[in-house]
Amino acid sequence: MAKKKSEAESNEIEAVDLISLLSTPETTDSYEIELSVPEQNIDLIALGKEELREEAEKLAKAKAVIPNRESRSTVPQKAISSLSPSSLSPSFITPTRNTTITSTQTVTKPRAASPKPINRLDALQGYENDSFEQIIKDITVCQRCGLCKTRKNVVPGIGNTKAKLVLIGEAPGADEDIQGKPFVGKAGQHLDKIIAAAGFKKEELYICNILKCRPPNNRDPNNEEMRVCTPFLQRQLALIKPKIIGCLGNIACHYVIGPSIPGITRIRGQWFDSIFGIPTFAMYHPSYLIRSATREKGSPNWQMWQDIRALKAKYDEIIDERKR
Ligand code: URA
Repeated sequence: MAKKKSEAESNEIEAVDLISLLSTPETTDSYEIELSVPEQNIDLIALGKEELREEAEKLAKAKAVIPNRESRSTVPQKAISSLSPSSLSPSFITPTRNTTITSTQTVTKPRAASPKPINRLDALQGYENDSFEQIIKDITVCQRCGLCKTRKNVVPGIGNTKAKLVLIGEAPGADEDIQGKPFVGKAGQHLDKIIAAAGFKKEELYICNILKCRPPNNRDPNNEEMRVCTPFLQRQLALIKPKIIGCLGNIACHYVIGPSIPGITRIRGQWFDSIFGIPTFAMYHPSYLIRSATREKGSPNWQMWQDIRALKAKYDEIIDERKR
């Protein structure tokens, strides 16, 4: 008689099967980068002591600080423990899997990411009577950076203006520039499939980017462009008042969560505080996923499937709480 599958086994198979239904476009016009971390030689024994001390301090801090929406004080950039116990996983604070020990007892390791505090953005003054219509008007005439000269259309965002979850990417690409809507190209179509497979209805969500105009040739947004464009996103979030943010890709995560976090492959699937003071979940960018053909266990697509389901579980909790 066939052995009955354990629940864990069935979930795993279901995840891989579902994700394999998602087609893989052949090309993409955007890409994902992982920040490289400078290496240094350090003494193994000193390292051990230092890490134990840092780890104890981090855990004490994580317990002591309760994220407070109203507070403008600095908050730990580290993942939010109340949202995800795994956010305190040692993988964040232990340095590397590639540690190599030499005969002289030194170890080559990436610099450990220190959870430095980040500054939440100041509340914008003078927008007490703001509206989506006004934000779109302001974006349409914006000339705060050079992208206004090359854009075909502005791409403010789309979806439910009362969404509990907002998905944020980095910047519009060519298709988005033509249509004036975010995530409508190949990456966007892949994202649609992922969110639908996880059980989200797209009309429940709000989807937008940090930049509202396309950078020429889909180059990465630069810091100045993101800085001057952020007030639009901040005004959008102030009106929507989402409970959570899903941040898509390395660039968006490093801007919204903070520049000193490790690369996306190490932080994906974890919750963080953000410059907006809203719990933020780090995820791969769909354009990275469509360049990876495999759906095997452990692959980026497989990881994304775990992450989107974790995000959906948190989303459902929020919706259920509100119904109670
Ligand atoms: N990539 C993004 O980050 N945003 C889009 O809208 C499209 C592709």
